[in-house]
Amino acid sequence: MNSKKRPRRLRGTETLRNMVRETRMDKASLIYPMFVVEGKGIRREIPSMPGQYHYSLDMLPAALEEVAKSGVSSVMLFGIPEKKDELGSSAWVEDGIIQRALEAGKKAVPELYYITDVCMCEYTSHGHCGALCGRHVDNDRTLPLLAKTALSHVRAGADMVAPSDMMDGRVEAIRQILDENGYLETPIMSYAVKYASAFYGPFREAADSAPAFGDRKTYQMDYHNAKEGIKEALLDVEEGADLVMVKPALSYLDVIRRVSEQVCVPVAAYSVSGEYAMIKAAAMKGWIDEASVVCEAATSVYRAGAGVLLTYYAKELARFMEEGRIG
Ligand code: PBG
Repeated sequence: MNSKKRPRRLRGTETLRNMVRETRMDKASLIYPMFVVEGKGIRREIPSMPGQYHYSLDMLPAALEEVAKSGVSSVMLFGIPEKKDELGSSAWVEDGIIQRALEAGKKAVPELYYITDVCMCEYTSHGHCGALCGRHVDNDRTLPLLAKTALSHVRAGADMVAPSDMMDGRVEAIRQILDENGYLETPIMSYAVKYASAFYGPFREAADSAPAFGDRKTYQMDYHNAKEGIKEALLDVEEGADLVMVKPALSYLDVIRRVSEQVCVPVAAYSVSGEYAMIKAAAMKGWIDEASVVCEAATSVYRAGAGVLLTYYAKELARFMEEGRIG
């Protein structure tokens, strides 16, 4: 071979490979999702998500401490209420599950950054992400419900709110109510580009939030579309989103890439429950090496253009980054 160009030269040693890495990651960019339930003494493993748990409020502080100790600095809280109704009214009550979780969490582990998922589907009796009009999810009637839920989270101590419902105009509605109440500094991370995805299956079991009829295709996006994702992201930025998210992550790396090239705000990606479950299941069968696959999959999301990653593997990834295995 005569060529002077030998790409292998830069792969010769680990030191050199680490020097010339194109993708750099930091544990500061990881967000760990957690599920909070009513009751006492509950730390119950979620069947389709081995290694992930439902926590009652008394068990939450220990779990949060473990997160902080792992080097992850931020959590995303999901609440599963005792009572559900048509409108999802336990989402915005002062003594709601998320509101009390924030109070308990911030008191016990104040060094963590608390983000809350703002949506109605865990709180409505029909499992849809908004108020119904017949069998249709009524966009405009849902907006004030989302806005007051977000406000109640922030009042209870949320550092950031993350609407995941996919109603049009919700970022604007939330920004407005937060500003009117003096919460000018509280950022909104919008689940801007959220697809109607079968990868949410395990989450819906965990959050008891599967729709009682129909599906979410009239509000979540059609997975055939990528340009539409850019439209959604740009709209949310215009409405005041401080970060935009693409979700799921692995099957949407092209969308992460395109969105990250179009917006000037940080782009987050959510590696969802089904992605976690697939890796976990194959690992438990001994078919793949879990740690290696987790590292490779997470790196691909950053390489695609995400700067922030929500993942059920956050604690493990923080360790891998610390060890220099990735990042
Ligand atoms: C609530 C919500 C969902 C997820 C995050 N927020 C479920 C859904 O839209 O059905 C999915 C997260 C995951 O699968 O890990 N709307």
